[in-house]
Amino acid sequence: MTDRITEHYGRLAATYDDHWTYDPEYVRAFARAITGALRLHPSDAIADVGCGTGLYTRRLAEDVQPTRPVLCVDPVPAMLDRVPVSPLLRPLLATAEDVASGHVALPHPGPLDAVVLKESLHHVSDRPGTLRGLAGLLSDHGRLLVVMLPRTIPHPLFPAAHERFEALQPDPAEIEAAVADAGLRAATSYRTFHVAIERERYVHMLESRYMSVLDGFSADELAEGVAQFRHAYREQPVLRFDDHFAFVTGWVPPA
Ligand SMILES: C[S@@+](CC[C@H](N)C(=O)[O-])C[C@H]1O[C@@H](n2cnc3c(N)ncnc32)[C@H](O)[C@@H]1O
Repeated sequence: MTDRITEHYGRLAATYDDHWTYDPEYVRAFARAITGALRLHPSDAIADVGCGTGLYTRRLAEDVQPTRPVLCVDPVPAMLDRVPVSPLLRPLLATAEDVASGHVALPHPGPLDAVVLKESLHHVSDRPGTLRGLAGLLSDHGRLLVVMLPRTIPHPLFPAAHERFEALQPDPAEIEAAVADAGLRAATSYRTFHVAIERERYVHMLESRYMSVLDGFSADELAEGVAQFRHAYREQPVLRFDDHFAFVTGWVPPA
């Protein structure tokens, strides 16, 4: 993991949840979609790898009520510190690579039944190797889910941010192939979440560099991008768009 990522999320941690909790239904619907895609059951040993502040993990744990706490894995202390203290959640400071390679051992014995990586796999450089390692931690009825944005997104970003995002974002088809190469039955489906957000709130999100792609812009470039954004959306006090996410699943095949 690079210093840039640590610094980015270290800075964002304090306000991360505020960006999305203005619409609690968005988070609730997302957590339900993850629970449904992984067919989570209270008896499952679950890990959320790259859980961030646990914004979605805590909702998911409240819905599923697992008998063992959900393992909340993240390498940035400032993000992990925001995971609420709860008998349903167990934080672990580590990268996906650490856990996949066994450099950091799981705190509970036995395999995992369900692993979710929501918007964290793009930060991993060796994605095939990491997915292989995570697949190796699964039980004989194990499932893995990668939630990720597609390569083009309808977010009301400014043009240079769209270009940079498209250059950096991995293709869900590549991730599905890597999941299959890891020995899992792989499939991809798409989920859409409607977003309605006040323009000024979104300006604040852009200025806070709420997406890691915004981190690559200098202060002047960002100010220029925000000016372009303000001009483009000057007649829309509320922005509405459909947020599409790829859900790449991997199922341990029957023996
Ligand atoms: C966009 S945030 C997503 C957080 C959370 N899953 C969510 O959806 O709210 C990306 C997270 O990935 C974490 N991350 C960065 N590099 C990682 C790595 N190598 N392994 C696991 N997580 C990583 C960051 O610290 C950050 O919390």
